[in-house]
Amino acid sequence: MTVKNICCIGAGYVGGPTMAMIAKKCPDIQVNVVDINEQRIDAWNDPNVDQIPIYEPGLAQLVADCRGINLHFSINVNEAIEKADMIFISVNTPTKTYGIGKGMAADLKYIELCARQIASVATTDKIIVEKSTLPVRTAEALKKILHNTSNGVHFEILSNPEFLAEGTAVQDLLNPDRVLIGGDETETGKLAQQELVDIYANWVPKERILTTNVWSSELSKLTANAFLAQRVSSINSLSELCEVTEADVSEVAKAIGADSRIGSKFLNASVGFGGSCFQKDILNLVYISKSYGLNEVADYWEQVIIMNDHQKRRFAKKIVEELFNTVAGKKIALLGWAFKKDTNDTRESAAIYVADYLLNEQANVVVYDPKVTAAQIYSDLDYLGTRSSDDNKKLLQVVSDPMEAISDAHAVAILTEWDEFITIDWDQVQERMLKPAFLFDGRRILDSESMRTKGFEFYQIGRG
Ligand code: NAD
Ligand code: UDX
Repeated sequence: MTVKNICCIGAGYVGGPTMAMIAKKCPDIQVNVVDINEQRIDAWNDPNVDQIPIYEPGLAQLVADCRGINLHFSINVNEAIEKADMIFISVNTPTKTYGIGKGMAADLKYIELCARQIASVATTDKIIVEKSTLPVRTAEALKKILHNTSNGVHFEILSNPEFLAEGTAVQDLLNPDRVLIGGDETETGKLAQQELVDIYANWVPKERILTTNVWSSELSKLTANAFLAQRVSSINSLSELCEVTEADVSEVAKAIGADSRIGSKFLNASVGFGGSCFQKDILNLVYISKSYGLNEVADYWEQVIIMNDHQKRRFAKKIVEELFNTVAGKKIALLGWAFKKDTNDTRESAAIYVADYLLNEQANVVVYDPKVTAAQIYSDLDYLGTRSSDDNKKLLQVVSDPMEAISDAHAVAILTEWDEFITIDWDQVQERMLKPAFLFDGRRILDSESMRTKGFEFYQIGRG
């Protein structure tokens, strides 16, 4: 078989950009991205390509280049499954919110539904690719479901986890450090693996395409995220120590990172890591370790989450302490709601937790983010369930101009490192705020000396 038709189930942050890249680099392959969320599919098909549902630098152009030619977005899942030689499953795998493993294990119901749908619809042989991040040994369950069809269709299962980071998805897909493809060590397994290698080889150098067995591939994805998150928690733990010893965490990070064995990336101290992956994948790793009775392994990784929760709380508490231990009725402007810059994704963003903490203290919170909608901000808060939706709307205001957020504010807190916050007119901000004007830099994007010179009471994560 040479793959001519691809289906991707799940038109989200991974499915959309990865399929757009495959379509761009493989003009001979028809790519159908399908989803049950009609609104999302409509947005992917919006004639104005700037209205696609995901904000990623370079993505709109990529979609514009291929949409309607060999890249299609649709809700017709069955039709796309039937036509495909290769099916990517790229649905969400959130942390379970119910039953066994609640709060820890990955919820695999969406994956299982896809497998059952494929099993019931397919009439020709297919290669199934796990694109979602899955617990090690998920392919075993998929195999059982898929092989239980009575229509004689043969399925090969591959694991091809995605390593893109949001905000840089297009660049990461264009120039990946590696592509990982796990497959069965059987003759048909190796043939299927080669089909996927051939697709990526259209633009990725061969030496960066790694092939492994399925289990190594599944486990490598979870652990890659765990290692990255661990670095952030490590540097964040040191940020607290820096603050009490007058060390500067950036200087420490530079000194540590200059050791070529350690490396300089992922050592930026922050108000805490967010995003849809790190926390979910570590919790999953902890759960898997515990389920095999490996309690020390589980405890070791859980500490990364404990540190991250502490960092978010510590930052919010610092704001209250500095503002003379009370923020009730005080206007506090939060600059940034996305979990990092250059994305409109807010999942697990530190901003949600900082805002919730301040709202509990009855602060008057005003939020500005250049890419996140007010509806999303309220939905994030409502999802926490701390207070009613009406109360969230009463207590927190969302504005579309940063100057409106800061006018007459007692304090400003930077929660996302958007470039526009670096170049904002900080003199004007200072003038418009109530005095003393408190500025809390949770992302270390501002120069502390110059902010103090401008008259701010300035606090920066990791600087004494
Ligand atoms: P997402 O929530 O943005 O998208 C998932 C989509 O799947 C949703 O639009 C949902 O409607 C759809 N879906 C769910 N069940 C379906 C079904 N039965 N049929 C059709 N569509 C269905 O999620 P995402 O961020 O794209 O993540 C997808 C997977 O990729 C997750 O396992 C995640 O861990 C992994 N991952 C995410 C990132 C990232 O940066 N977001 C990076 C690497 C890996
Ligand atoms: C992550 C992984 O990087 C990616 O490989 C995987 O496929 C999905 O999960 P993502 O969550 O999109 O990607 O963004 P990432 O750049 O990893 O940042 C995650 C969080 O850590 C963000 O909140 C970011 O601000 C924070 N972070 C990152 C830090 O606080 N300090 C750092 O040095 C790096």
